[in-house]
Amino acid sequence: MSDEAASLDPSDWATFRNQAHALLDDLITHIETIRERPVWQPPPAASQERFRQPLPHRERDLASVLGDVRTHIIPYATGNLHPGFMGWVHGAGTPIGMLAEMVAGGLNMNCGGRNHIGLHVEKQIALWMAEALGYPGTASGVFLTGSSMANFAALTVAKVKACGPGIREGGLGEFGGRLTAYTSVEAHGCITQAMELSGLGSANLRKIGVDASGRMDVAKLEMAIEADRSAGLSPFLIVATAGTVNTGAIDPLEYISEVARKEGLWFHVDGAIGALAAFSPALRPLISGIEKSDSVALDFHKWGHVPYDAGFLLVRDHAAHKAAFSNSAAYLQRSERGAAAGETWPCDLGPDLSRGFRALKTWMTIETLGTDRMGDAMLANCLTARYLSEKVQRSPIFELKAPVSLNIVCFGVRGADGRVNRELVLDLHESGIAVTSWTRIDGQTVIRCAIVNHRTTREDIDRMMECLADLAIRRCPESRE
Ligand SMILES: Cc1ncc(COP(=O)(O)O)c(C=O)c1O
Repeated sequence: MSDEAASLDPSDWATFRNQAHALLDDLITHIETIRERPVWQPPPAASQERFRQPLPHRERDLASVLGDVRTHIIPYATGNLHPGFMGWVHGAGTPIGMLAEMVAGGLNMNCGGRNHIGLHVEKQIALWMAEALGYPGTASGVFLTGSSMANFAALTVAKVKACGPGIREGGLGEFGGRLTAYTSVEAHGCITQAMELSGLGSANLRKIGVDASGRMDVAKLEMAIEADRSAGLSPFLIVATAGTVNTGAIDPLEYISEVARKEGLWFHVDGAIGALAAFSPALRPLISGIEKSDSVALDFHKWGHVPYDAGFLLVRDHAAHKAAFSNSAAYLQRSERGAAAGETWPCDLGPDLSRGFRALKTWMTIETLGTDRMGDAMLANCLTARYLSEKVQRSPIFELKAPVSLNIVCFGVRGADGRVNRELVLDLHESGIAVTSWTRIDGQTVIRCAIVNHRTTREDIDRMMECLADLAIRRCPESRE
C-alpha cells in the first residue's frame, strides 16, 4: 500500500467540501426552524436497529453515512434546543457554539498541556470567571466534563489541603473515617458520590436540614460541626449550593462563608446552576458571598448555553489546586522552549490528561454574545419562571409545591396523588408540546419546570399549561372543578 493510500483524508476534497457545506446548512436550518417540530420524539425501532449493526470493515460513502445522520440521529435528539424543553437543567446551545465545535474538531487540539494557544484560551476563561465571581486574578481554573467532576475535583483539592500532600501517596491513613464534610439535604447527588469516589465515604457527609425555601440552615450546620469536633472527628469542607437541582434555592453563602472562616474549613460552592447568574447585574446579589469561597464548580453547558460538555472548576489558591493533581512523570516533562514549554498545564489541575478544546466554544460564546446579553437571557428565564408560578397560583387545577427562587418551578395537580403528576409529565413528553421533569419535594412527586432555554417565551409557557390542563382533566376529571 502506498503512503498516500494509507491516509484517512478524503480522496476527493471538492466532493467533501460540498457535503460539508450542505450539512452545515442543514444544521443551521435545524436550529432556525426548531419550533416547527415536536420538542421530543422517541427513536423509532428502525433507528434503534440502525445502531445494532456489526463492525464495518469496508469504507462507505460519506454521503450515505450523512443520510443516516439526517434520518436516524438529527430528528431524535434530546430536545433541549426547543423552547418547549423545560425538563432537566439543560442548556439550549447556540449556533455560535456549533461553529466553535466545528473549529475545535477541525484543529483537533489536545488541551491537556504543551505550548499552544489552547492553554491561553483556557486561562482567559479562568481570568474571566475570577473577574465575574470576585476572585483574585491569580485564581486557577480548569475545564472538566461537568459539575459532577468539578465538585469531585474541588473535594480532592480540599482533602489534600486538609491532610497535606503526603495523602496522595500514603492514602488516608490516620485520616481514614475521620474527615467530615457538610452540605444540605438539597445538594446534588454528585456531592455524595464525590465522597464515595474519594474514599472518604458518604457516611461522613453531613446533610444539613434546610429552611422553607430550601436553603441550608446555618445554625444546624454549626451544631453539626461542633458535634463532630466533640466526637474527635476532623471537619474539613463545607459545600454550599448556588441553585439547587430541585428548586433552584441558593444557600446563604455569606453566612456559610463566615462559618467556614471561623472553623477553618474549605468553603466550596456548587454553582452548576446558579454561578453564571453573576453575568446579570439584577441576579448577581442572589449569589452574594460566592466571592468569599475557596472554590466554585460551574457549568457553561447549562445557563451559559455552551455546547456539551463544558464544566469548570475555579480555585482561589492556585498552589493548593496544583498540589492536588500535578504529576512529574517523565513523559510530561516541561522544557524552557519549544512545544513542551510552559509551567502549569491543565493536566496539573485535574485528573484528565488528554482533553479537548472546551475553552474555545466557551470563549467564542462569551466573546460573541457578551455577558450583558447572556445575563439578560438568564434574567428573562427567571421572569418567565415567575410568570409560570403566578399562572399556577391562579389555576383552579394546579398548585405551587415550592417557593420559586430562580428559574425552577415545582407544581402539581391540586389534591392529587404524586403518581398523577408523574403520569402527566410522561403524557406531556409524548404530546411533543413540551418536556418537563418531575422530582420529589417533601416526599411528594411534583412536576418540575426548569426554565433554562433562552428561546422559551411566555407563549411557550401558555401552550404547555394549556396542554397540561387538558391532560389533567382527562386523567382526573374531578380536577375540572
Ligand atoms: C446543583 C447541581 N450540581 C451538580 C450537577 C451535576 O452537573 P453535571 O451534570 O454537569 O455533571 C447538577 C446537574 O444538574 C446540578 O444541578
